[in-house]
Amino acid sequence: MQLDDVQRAAQEQFARQSARNGRGHILERVDDVRIALEQIQLPAPAQILDVATGAGHTGLYLASLGHEVTLADIAQPMLDRAQKTAAERGLKVEIQQHAAEEFPYASGRFDLVTFRVAAHHFSSPERFIVETARVLKSGGWFLLIDGTVQDHEPEAEAWSHAVKKLRDPSHHCFVTPLAWSKLCEDAQLHVVERNVTPFKQPDLNWYFETAATPPSPREKVLALIAGARESARRLFQLGTENGKIVWWWQRLTLIARRL
Ligand SMILES: C[S@@+](CC[C@H](N)C(=O)[O-])C[C@H]1O[C@@H](n2cnc3c(N)ncnc32)[C@H](O)[C@@H]1O
Repeated sequence: MQLDDVQRAAQEQFARQSARNGRGHILERVDDVRIALEQIQLPAPAQILDVATGAGHTGLYLASLGHEVTLADIAQPMLDRAQKTAAERGLKVEIQQHAAEEFPYASGRFDLVTFRVAAHHFSSPERFIVETARVLKSGGWFLLIDGTVQDHEPEAEAWSHAVKKLRDPSHHCFVTPLAWSKLCEDAQLHVVERNVTPFKQPDLNWYFETAATPPSPREKVLALIAGARESARRLFQLGTENGKIVWWWQRLTLIARRL
């Protein structure tokens, strides 16, 4: 696999941190996926590709519903973790290691392609959308769930980008809801749902631990939080609870259909 610098940084980061992404991770709860699926009509069983599957929380949930699921990720240790969990839960899945920007699948193979909480690491959101459209059947579904910043909030966007980058340098960029919609429509993916909901970040220290953030960037994040302007304070509801720093990320759920 030929990787660019952004892809390599994500691969190395998640290979190191795979043990932190399994049981007990806040992504283990898949209510967001369950709610999105209520709007998606799938055959039984459906052919599903879950890209950047991480520890497999989304893909294994879909497999538990009886679908035929391929789990893909750029980091092999993540795939090993997902495969082990699949075996423990008695689920049969296909495992593939590849980047999100180029897929090794024939065109028109899948009924649904999912990406949850990963796209902000991708080096080329454009390429991954084009690839997604290519491997979907006509009428197939695309589900994207990822951190975002509302449209027209450039100051808060710059603040959240700086915080994410300090915490984990493999973070690349958040894409705003309107920009995602444009990429989708340009690739023949018709957006049928787009909503942004707050998602609680319950403890700054946990957030650092899951990315193995070194002490110096941690201090810089604390300084950014202390000096945050009104736009970021309002949008992310920065605060403290029981001595812990908490805030609310903005999470985009986008559902689109291949024309
Ligand atoms: C937070 S985890 C994903 C969580 C998972 N989708 C879930 O629902 O629980 C992010 C994953 O994205 C993967 N990743 C990052 N950049 C990638 C890329 N360019 N191509 C494929 N996978 C990538 C990482 O290896 C990591 O496993």
